This record gives sequence, structure tokens and C-alpha cells, in this order.
Amino acid sequence: MLFLQTAYVAGALLVASASASSCCNRLEKRLGSSVSFPKDVDYNATMSGYWSIQESSLQPACVLQPRTARDVSKALKIISKHGNCHFAIKGHGHAPAAGFANVDGGVTIDMTSMSSVSLHEGQSIARVEAGAKWLDVYQHLDGSGVQVAGGRNGNVGVGGLLVGGGISHFTTKHGWACDAVVNYEVVLANGSLVNANKRCNRDLFLALKGGGNNFGVVTRYDLATFPLGDISTTSISYDISQRGKVFQAFTDLLDSSRYDPLASLVTSLLYRSTSKAWTLASSAVYTKPVSEPAVFANLSAVPHESLVRNITSLATFADESDTPPLNWLFATVTLKPSAQYMQDMFDMLNNTVSSFNPEGGVTWSVALEPLVAAMLKSPKDANVLGLETAQDGFIVLISALWPNSAVNAEVEAAARSVTSAWETGADAKGLLQGFQYLNYAAPSQEPLRSYGKDNFEFLASVSQKYDHAQVLQKRVGGFKLSS
Ligand SMILES: Cc1cc2nc3c(=O)[nH]c(=O)nc-3n(C[C@H](O)[C@H](O)[C@H](O)COP(=O)(O)OP(=O)(O)OC[C@H]3O[C@@H](n4cnc5c(N)ncnc54)[C@H](O)[C@@H]3O)c2cc1C
Ligand SMILES: *[C@@H]1O[C@H](CO)[C@@H](O)[C@H](O)[C@H]1NC(C)=O
Ligand SMILES: *[C@@H]1O[C@H](CO)[C@@H](O)[C@H](O)[C@H]1NC(C)=O
Ligand SMILES: *[C@@H]1O[C@H](CO)[C@@H](O)[C@H](O)[C@H]1NC(C)=O
Ligand SMILES: *[C@@H]1O[C@H](CO)[C@@H](O)[C@H](O)[C@H]1NC(C)=O
Ligand SMILES: *[C@@H]1O[C@H](CO)[C@@H](O)[C@H](O)[C@H]1NC(C)=O
Repeated sequence: MLFLQTAYVAGALLVASASASSCCNRLEKRLGSSVSFPKDVDYNATMSGYWSIQESSLQPACVLQPRTARDVSKALKIISKHGNCHFAIKGHGHAPAAGFANVDGGVTIDMTSMSSVSLHEGQSIARVEAGAKWLDVYQHLDGSGVQVAGGRNGNVGVGGLLVGGGISHFTTKHGWACDAVVNYEVVLANGSLVNANKRCNRDLFLALKGGGNNFGVVTRYDLATFPLGDISTTSISYDISQRGKVFQAFTDLLDSSRYDPLASLVTSLLYRSTSKAWTLASSAVYTKPVSEPAVFANLSAVPHESLVRNITSLATFADESDTPPLNWLFATVTLKPSAQYMQDMFDMLNNTVSSFNPEGGVTWSVALEPLVAAMLKSPKDANVLGLETAQDGFIVLISALWPNSAVNAEVEAAARSVTSAWETGADAKGLLQGFQYLNYAAPSQEPLRSYGKDNFEFLASVSQKYDHAQVLQKRVGGFKLSS
């Protein structure tokens, strides 16, 4: 029996890979050298463009590096007609989970060869090709007097961040990064190249504002700009024993009625199993060149080990070095303000991680980010995230990074156990919010359902309308709408 099952699976794999190779051959005939294979330098370049080992260790049958939206359109016409041809859409590869932007034995469409940026309409609109990274955008706009809302780390891709929402330094003033998209140029599953904006394909326009990779391959984003000069940055590091005071100062800020819309804050905890040491830090940005912003006075007043201030440009600040490839996981929860519960969360986390020593070590990082002001109160139809009924609070991103792929299942289980303890504890105290930020969610979470029933059903109906054959549901990985 076991033998028969194995033979059956092997047979199915053979059929799938035969189909992928005929799909790849057709793509190569039509698109020539934009298609590469495992023996090629271009293929390797794409594989080294992933941030996690879980993604870079998958092996697509071929990689397409399109140069134009028409290339993407030609490719999807071919792919959608090949019944078994699975594919992936890749930006800058920062989503850590396996299969979200790469695919074993299928076609990976690597958008990074399309990365131009240009200003239009009296500098009010920036047109950004979907394969750019945020640093490309900030550097292009640097010196023009205008900027756009996007990733805080410049290595993150425009493509993935915007289809999942997007937290920027400007979120509490301008809302989610996707709120500022005024037009999407997108190739639908059947290869049609369309625009989606307020006047045309309006339902698709809204669905793309948080609905993930479920509606097509976005080839260009047109983003509303705003004036920006230099920004003020403050990095503070504290001894872990100060956490109670830091959590209090953080919690004091979680109030939309008096939140300073120019403030951007991430407070983070870090633990290394190899040294068994905790660190605690705040990265506070003020989006005007004010040297000591009053909003951060309490955070700066907590006794600290170091405090570094600077006045700089967005492009300079976002220019961070990337980490070497490691295994990574993300998971998220959204909570209401409570300094006491943050202490409880720390204890729950410490309980798990202090007795967890997988071979090769693991680093845990917890980022705490305010969910206030324009993130909650965006204009109607700004996005599909369903935050109209959410309350002031904060988003938690827990991440783990580790070198040894043999311990993946153990690390994933430890992360699930911490996350579910946090959820259960918060729920019991009335502190749990339903929202799960898609770009921070674990594959086992359901961020699209967390937008609420109406939004989820809306997304599913838009998917039926623009992808009647449900190609993007059946053949592309990521957070899906089909149940
Ligand atoms: C170091 C680091 C810093 C981060 N900082 C921030 C931050 O400041 N703010 C924030 O909100 N998030 C942040 N994130 C999370 C980030 O938004 C997500 O990881 C996002 O998915 C990355 O996009 P990408 O294009 O680099 O990734 P990819 O892995 O290439 O893509 C992610 C997903 O988007 C889909 N996708 C990509 N391009 C397209 C396209 N053109 N059309 C359709 N679908 C597409 C892919 O199929 C995939 O499912 C950060 C992540 C990391 C690792
Ligand atoms: C691509 O990478 C593989 C595996 O790392 C290596 O064996 C191969 O030589 C590389 N090919 C090229 C053309 O660089
Ligand atoms: C700073 O702390 C004081 C005293 O704890 C509190 O009253 C005040 O609201 C805090 N300020 C901010 C901006 O959070
Ligand atoms: C401070 O900002 C200046 C101007 O952008 C920059 O050159 C310098 O590297 C920054 N210093 C630090 C410590 O980040
Ligand atoms: C974390 O837990 C360990 C083991 O119980 C304990 O020794 C340590 O003091 C805790 N760390 C902190 C910062 O509370
Ligand atoms: C592709 O799908 C769209 C949306 O369903 C549809 O309007 C269009 O006619 C289709 N194009 C072709 C060539 O079938």
C-alpha cells in the first residue's frame, strides 16, 4: 500500500514537472532570454534574492524576469492555458514563508527587473514599477521635495508591501501605504493588462488595497506623494530590567485623540538563545527635522544605555544593510493598550524561549508598533483591511531567525505556542483585537478573514469576477481566498 501511494505521488510529480517544463519551453519560445533555467546565472540571481532559506531552497523549473508589463501579459496568457503550471510572483523576496514568492517545479515571475520610478502631474504622483524596492523609490525622490509612504527598511519590496497594506513612518498621518495608491496597472490571470482606479475597475482597485497576491500581477503602482524635508531619528537602547517603564511610556502613546501624527515608533525586544541575553530598544522617528520631539519625551526619560539622535533624509535612514540568508518566521497579533499585559507577554515569551535551545541557536525578535490615528480612521474605501471597528492599540510582530534548517518544525511550534498563549491571555482580559496584519502573519494564520466577513466575501467576489478560472487561487501560493 505504502509503495503504491509513493508511486502514485511520484507519478503525479512527474506529470506536474513535465507540464512545468513544457510551460517553461513555451515561455522561452515567446519571451527568449527573459526566461532562465537552473544552469543559468540569471536563475541563480533570482534565487539569491530571497530573504529566507525556506524560500531560496525551493527550485522552480524556470524563472521569468519580465522587462515590461507586456512581457507579463504574454507570460500569463501562456501560463493560464497550461492547466498544471504553478507559478509564483516575486518582489524583493522579504515574505519569509516557503511558497509565498517562489515555487518548487513551477515558474517564478521575478518582478525585480522592472524597477523604474518617475514623477508626474506636477510631482503629485510617483509611478513606481512593481519590482522596485523602497530604497530605489526614496533615492529617486530624494531632493525633489516630495516622498511617498513605504517600507521603513529600504530593502523591502514595493510589490509585496503594497498588496498587504504597508506600515510606513507616515502611517499615523497618511494611513496605510496602500491607501495612497491612486492607480494599479495589473495583469489579470488570463493575461489582460488593465488599470484599476477610482473610475475604472473600482472593485479591483479596492481589493488590491490589502487583498494580497489574489487578483493578478501588479506591474505598476501610481502613488500620491506629499512634501517631505529631513526627518528626525532617535534610537534608544535600554537594559531589559527597564521594560516596565518602557512598556508604560509606549502604552501612554496609544491614544488617537492626542497622538502626534508626525510620530513613528517601533519598540522591540530581542533574545539570542546562544547568549541567553535580552535587549530592548526603541526606534523613534519624527517626520519633521525637530531635534527633540516632545512626543518621545517619556521614552527618552527611561534610564537607557544609549540614545542616538540624528537629522537625516528618508533615503539615508532607509539604507540598511540586509541580513544574510537564514530561516525566518513571522507571526502577528493585534492588541489593545495595556502596559501590564505587555509585562505578562514578556514573561510568557521568556518562559518559552529560556528553555528552548535548538542546535545552532535561534534569535527571537518582537516588534511593537502603535495602531492609532489614520491607521484606523482612514477615509471610506481607503483599503479593505476592515479596521473601521478596531480600537487604539498595537500590532505585534514576532519573528524568529535561525541557521539550522533541521530544527524548523521545533521553532515553528515554539512560535505557535507563544502566539497562542498571548492570544488566549489577551482574549481572557478583553485585550485581543481581531486584525492580523497580512505582511506579518504566519502561514497558519488567516489575515484575509481577519478583515471581517463582509470584506472577505467582497474579496472572494472580486476574485471570481477577475479570475473566473481561479488560477491565482489554485496555482499561486500565499494567503488565499478559497476555503
Ligand atoms: C527586514 C524587513 C523589514 C520590513 N519592514 C516593513 C515595514 O516597514 N512595513 C511593513 O508594512 N512591512 C515590513 N516588512 C514586511 C513586508 O511588508 C513583507 O515581508 C512584504 O511581503 C515584502 O514584500 P516583498 O516584495 O519584498 O516580498 P515578496 O516575498 O517578493 O512578496 C511578498 C508577497 O507579495 C506578493 N507580490 C509581490 N509583488 C507582487 C506584485 N507585483 N503583484 C502581486 N503580488 C505581488 C508575492 O506573491 C508574495 O506573496 C518587513 C519585512 C522585512 C523582512
Ligand atoms: C547556480 O547555482 C548552483 C547551486 O548553487 C551552482 O551549482 C551553479 O554552478 C550556478 N550556476 C551559475 C551559472 O552560476
Ligand atoms: C508622559 O508621562 C506622564 C506621567 O506618567 C503622562 O501623564 C503623560 O501623558 C505622558 N506623555 C505622553 C506624551 O505620553
Ligand atoms: C546622521 O545623518 C547624516 C546626514 O544624513 C548621515 O550622513 C549620518 O550617517 C547619520 N549618522 C548616523 C549615526 O546615522
Ligand atoms: C527569563 O526566565 C529565566 C528562566 O526562568 C530567568 O532565569 C530569567 O531571569 C528571566 N529573564 C528575565 C529578564 O526576567
Ligand atoms: C480576461 O478576464 C477579464 C476579467 O474577467 C475579462 O474582462 C476579459 O475579457 C478576459 N480576456 C480574455 C482575452 O479572455
